[in-house]
Amino acid sequence: LDNGLALTPPMGWMAWQRFRCITDCEAYPDDCISEKLFMDMADRMAADGYLKAGYEYVMIDDCWASKERDSNNRLQPDPKRFPSGIKALADYIHARGLKFGIYGDFGTKTCAGYPGSLDYLELDAQTWAEWGVDYLKFDGCYVDQKIMPEGYAKMSKYLNDTGRPIVYSCSWPAYQEPLGIESNYTALSESCNLWRNWDDINDSWENVTSILSWFSKNQHRLAPFAGPGHWNDPDMLLIGNYGLSYDQSKAQMAIWSIMAAPLIMSVDLRHMETQFKHILQNKDVIRINQDPMGIQGKLILSKSQIDFWTKPILPKVNGKPSYAIGLLSNRIDGYPYRVNFTLGELNLMENIYVLTDVFEKEIKPKVVDSKDRIFARVRPSGVVLLKAVPNVVAVNQM
Ligand code: GLA
Repeated sequence: LDNGLALTPPMGWMAWQRFRCITDCEAYPDDCISEKLFMDMADRMAADGYLKAGYEYVMIDDCWASKERDSNNRLQPDPKRFPSGIKALADYIHARGLKFGIYGDFGTKTCAGYPGSLDYLELDAQTWAEWGVDYLKFDGCYVDQKIMPEGYAKMSKYLNDTGRPIVYSCSWPAYQEPLGIESNYTALSESCNLWRNWDDINDSWENVTSILSWFSKNQHRLAPFAGPGHWNDPDMLLIGNYGLSYDQSKAQMAIWSIMAAPLIMSVDLRHMETQFKHILQNKDVIRINQDPMGIQGKLILSKSQIDFWTKPILPKVNGKPSYAIGLLSNRIDGYPYRVNFTLGELNLMENIYVLTDVFEKEIKPKVVDSKDRIFARVRPSGVVLLKAVPNVVAVNQM
């Protein structure tokens, strides 16, 4: 969507994957979907380095609304859980230099059964704009997928009419692709800044690999539609939660970055182990994700149960891009497997490259050509993330 927003993949925090639809604030005062939860997260994002690393949006997901619209048919928050109102919460978030996101649904109800927008598209767009919303996740439960392309486009126009810059995240492919219907990505990239293509992520490595397998199978259809202002969204980061090991967490961060995926955390930022925080805030990985060219990387080669993913990135040298290279292990034999490959096998043919390891800074940069055999040790369900920069200086010296 050409609204000047999301020129790089959006980064932020969203409640759903970790906090779901917990509404019992008496039993779970720290975990329930309430203004306190979002204020706590905004505090942590501003104070603990996440905002500085690029995570900008604090986003409410489902279960924030009152079950009934007000007497003017306007959406209203649950009065017990959001006693100060959404505008006040948005102000609180904005005061910390962050941006504010909210969740709605194109159908008659949200997925968790709260009021949907079907008969109130324009009114809801206006309400959200008045509240200070900067990002809308617009879900697609309780409505026929056939009317989504037209309906989501209408909502895009209503959001634009408010005059407030609002990143627009669409869910319609996630309701078509699982039925075997190929979504119209030209239409999506015209109406939306990002879109959920596939099923919800859950807190397990198995789930991450199933998502990756769908995205890589369909990459030739999807990747051309990623770019500044419009992104494919494989769903939230699980890092720091219960399901992923340290190595699996690095792997999700690395491959999501190569895919130019939105980096949306969903974790309790009040209780973060340092090692996970460091993964989420790794500047060099984030730079790969936020590369200004906005090219979605692809799975290029699989061998010895290692998947090789590459993404063209800046800097360009004599017109040739650099590359991020992710080696993702699908192995379960419990040792760092030594794999070898050449840059030629990954279609990096033209240049001499300087190769660096993005996570393991102690490994020295190496000058390699497209035929040099490169060895890397990849831990089970782990990743090695490399960067290859074309090197004219090295070429001239040879
Ligand atoms: C759908 C979406 C999820 C989440 C829930 C909320 O399942 O795909 O990301 O928003 O609805 O009910």
